[in-house]
Amino acid sequence: MPTVVLGVTGCIGAYKACEVLRELQKRDVDVHVVMTRHATEFVSPMTFEALSRHAVFVDQFRLGENGDIRHISLADAAELLLVAPATANVLAKFARGIADDALSTLHLATRAPLLLAPAMNVNMFEHPAVAENLAILRARGATVIEPGSGYLACGWLGKGRLAEVPDIVEAAMAALQRRRDLAGLQVVVSAGPTIEDLDPVRFISNRSSGKMGYRVAEAARDRGAAVTLVSGPTALADPPGLRTVRVRSAAEMEQAVLRESAGADVVVMAAAVADWRPANRSDHKVKKEVAARSIELERTTDILAALGREKGPRFLVGFAAETDDVVGYARGKLVAKNADLIVANDVSGAGVGFDADDNAATLVDSAGEVVVERTSKRALAERIWDRVRELRGARG
Ligand code: CTP
Repeated sequence: MPTVVLGVTGCIGAYKACEVLRELQKRDVDVHVVMTRHATEFVSPMTFEALSRHAVFVDQFRLGENGDIRHISLADAAELLLVAPATANVLAKFARGIADDALSTLHLATRAPLLLAPAMNVNMFEHPAVAENLAILRARGATVIEPGSGYLACGWLGKGRLAEVPDIVEAAMAALQRRRDLAGLQVVVSAGPTIEDLDPVRFISNRSSGKMGYRVAEAARDRGAAVTLVSGPTALADPPGLRTVRVRSAAEMEQAVLRESAGADVVVMAAAVADWRPANRSDHKVKKEVAARSIELERTTDILAALGREKGPRFLVGFAAETDDVVGYARGKLVAKNADLIVANDVSGAGVGFDADDNAATLVDSAGEVVVERTSKRALAERIWDRVRELRGARG
């Protein structure tokens, strides 16, 4: 029976958490409730205590029934931390690592995945501070169940209403399903751009930020895989809990990916590898008076195609950034490179693709297509791994 810690914070939607609790119990989930002081203004801890049949945790300085330190013992037992409703205040505390009550302390102490169902007034939800805090939490791997739109308790019309109970329950069950479902797998993910030097000060590169590949690597890590991330130059920090190999050029990336992929079960080529590099690299800065008017280029190795030629039992995932006939080109790449799955994204839209935090994609494989509407890069990463699991399962 999986254990879910349900965090309840001070908001009118707190009463709906009772229903979330009941629905999870019906699905054989053991639910422990942690409330903030403000939440107890809306619903009595007694209600949750009676429903959950566990003591409700409100006061971080009171020991548990067996003299245990509850924010640690509960944090260890949790397989999912679900906060519904999540106020702007708790999002800010989580984003900044503040630990001044039972729930925020438990949040720092647990390694369980985090699922957040925000609820607040529309102006609060749209405030840049809240948006930034949600972006920070998403980037760290939290899943956010979007609030609904409509009449809010405060009388305003807009986005901010706690998501519907069935949606929260479904998201919680999906998160439980995913925990450690990639355990035992060796995964290699490439990410970021490559840099092709012309001379010591000039280079050719592309707009990849690396965010998508990093999210793919982090999602695999959180689902139990042993992950090696081969990263081109990015502004992103090495993610904890996985091995990061830094490279610069397409040639270095080729070497590193082929070496790391030797024993891998799944290789995801999310990197935007340069297709061409300067045929001649100067060791000295080239002066403009003597510089040629055109740069001669030569092809780099197509790493994904090279992996496809020596495929073995490995499962290969490629990316395709396109601006038109997205699925058509992706299908061509699937066949040409002997990949098992191509994540095709349309980079012509605003707010998705390069350097954005969101993405939208079509997952193209030989059996069909799965459309993933605009969502966070982390959520897309989860969908990619869901599909990899399905397709590997079908292949036996
Ligand atoms: N790729 C690779 N090695 C390269 C170039 C690309 O492994 N030298 C991989 C990328 O990581 C990605 C996929 O191939 O998974 C992208 O396919 P590609 O045909 O190279 O896309 P584009 O560079 O966009 O090519 P085109 O301009 O032909 O669409």
